[in-house]
Amino acid sequence: MRKILCIGAGYVGGPTMAVIAKHCPQYEVRVVDMNADRVAAWNSDQLPIYEPGLKDVIDIARGRNLFFLTDETIAEQIDWADIIFVSVNTPTKAFGLGAGRAADLQFWEKTARQILQHATSPKIIIEKSTLPVRTAEAMSHILNTNSIGVQFDVLSNPEFLAEGSAIRDLEEPDRVLIGGHNTPSGQRAIETIVELYANWVPREKIITTNLWSSELSKLVANAFLAQRISSINAISALCEKTEADVEEVAFAIGTDKRIGPHFLRASVGFGGSCFKKDILNLVYICEQQGLPEVAEYWQQVLKMNEYQGARFVANMVHSMFNSLSGKRIALFGAAFKANTSDTRESPALVVCRELLEERADVVLCDPHALENARQDLDEQAEKVNFVADPYQAAKGAHAIAILTEWAHFANLDYHQIYNSMAHPAFIFDGRNILDHQALFKLGFNVYPIGKAPLQHFNHGRTW
Ligand SMILES: NC(=O)c1ccc[n+]([C@@H]2O[C@H](COP(=O)([O-])OP(=O)(O)OC[C@H]3O[C@@H](n4cnc5c(N)ncnc54)[C@H](O)[C@@H]3O)[C@@H](O)[C@H]2O)c1
Repeated sequence: MRKILCIGAGYVGGPTMAVIAKHCPQYEVRVVDMNADRVAAWNSDQLPIYEPGLKDVIDIARGRNLFFLTDETIAEQIDWADIIFVSVNTPTKAFGLGAGRAADLQFWEKTARQILQHATSPKIIIEKSTLPVRTAEAMSHILNTNSIGVQFDVLSNPEFLAEGSAIRDLEEPDRVLIGGHNTPSGQRAIETIVELYANWVPREKIITTNLWSSELSKLVANAFLAQRISSINAISALCEKTEADVEEVAFAIGTDKRIGPHFLRASVGFGGSCFKKDILNLVYICEQQGLPEVAEYWQQVLKMNEYQGARFVANMVHSMFNSLSGKRIALFGAAFKANTSDTRESPALVVCRELLEERADVVLCDPHALENARQDLDEQAEKVNFVADPYQAAKGAHAIAILTEWAHFANLDYHQIYNSMAHPAFIFDGRNILDHQALFKLGFNVYPIGKAPLQHFNHGRTW
């Protein structure tokens, strides 16, 4: 029986190992985390993350060949395993050289040193975390300094799952990418991991490359995805000035096979733990490699995202007679996207903070993400009302802003909501998920993204 250990039971480590364990009953999979509360949640019915389909997979494998453990026994687990996935967080560095841009590799390096300290037999070490290109080189240097002659093969196997559809993405990935050294032992290690995935992923979808291509591909994939969102968001600003409709433009260009229809939805902006940090990291690497023009090109993707959020709030202020002070505003959505409880870098929280600056009376409403939002907002949380029920959240409000594309926000009884609000009532659809004409007929003043607003009075836009 093959023995797999994963260090880090987060949004990536937990679901990925659950799907591996489900499809590979002949492997034993252990997942350790230094956060004991998180481990306890993985071992309970209240999983630490919300992800459609996750519970079903956990129910199949947990206790059979999938085990979640605290890191108290990490020495034993490391020595036990043949294959170690490292799926720890790699946030943006907050201090020292590269602060605010470079990846903070302290958690990664700590695990490498733990492996070095406790391993007494050869192991395949797999970078599951997103890392700067050539990190594996540093890891190999650290690991292969051991004095007992243990062989470590470091592979890169970046994760491409998207939160909200993680289980589907893991069950039916577009591709699995495995990078390794072009040496006999590097190639043997690659083949071992290909065999693992081949238990459920068609072989033609398993791509093998050199280590550096694999590491860099993950950063580039996220940069390209974010770039598409920033591109359509830039066009949404132009649509609002010219009475073009961004959805019509997106459809018209997306039918071109060379462009394709995906990731062309204009919105209040992208969020999540990855896009921003990975682009910052890419920008930093380009600068370090003496490529300032390339760095500047990618930096612009982030700048456009910030602009879109700021533009959204400015529109609220101007449309609501240049003052939000004391006005109750219901924010529908806290998660950075639908079907996740994750609020990291959520545009909803960006908008929330800016509205607090405007001294608005903010009510935050979300079906799964309120607890994370409370933690992320930190000391500002005490100024916010957290309400799970959208009807309660909107009661007496001057405005609603849709900030997460949860499907149920599109299916509420807006007639009832309109009647319970202060008038004139405003609705700012930061995700373009509502029926704008129907809302306008109910009496709302409606402000979509990238389309002309529908107003019951002649206001004149100033932004
Ligand atoms: N979240 C995503 O959608 C996503 C998608 C693809 C790739 N990634 C990448 O995967 C990596 C993990 O992301 P995540 O969202 O799962 O992060 P996360 O913060 O949810 O989880 C990381 C976990 O690692 C644990 N940890 C850190 N150091 C440890 C140590 N030394 N020993 C034991 N546990 C330790 C933390 O306690 C935490 O629970 C990051 O590099 C991220 O960029 C994330």
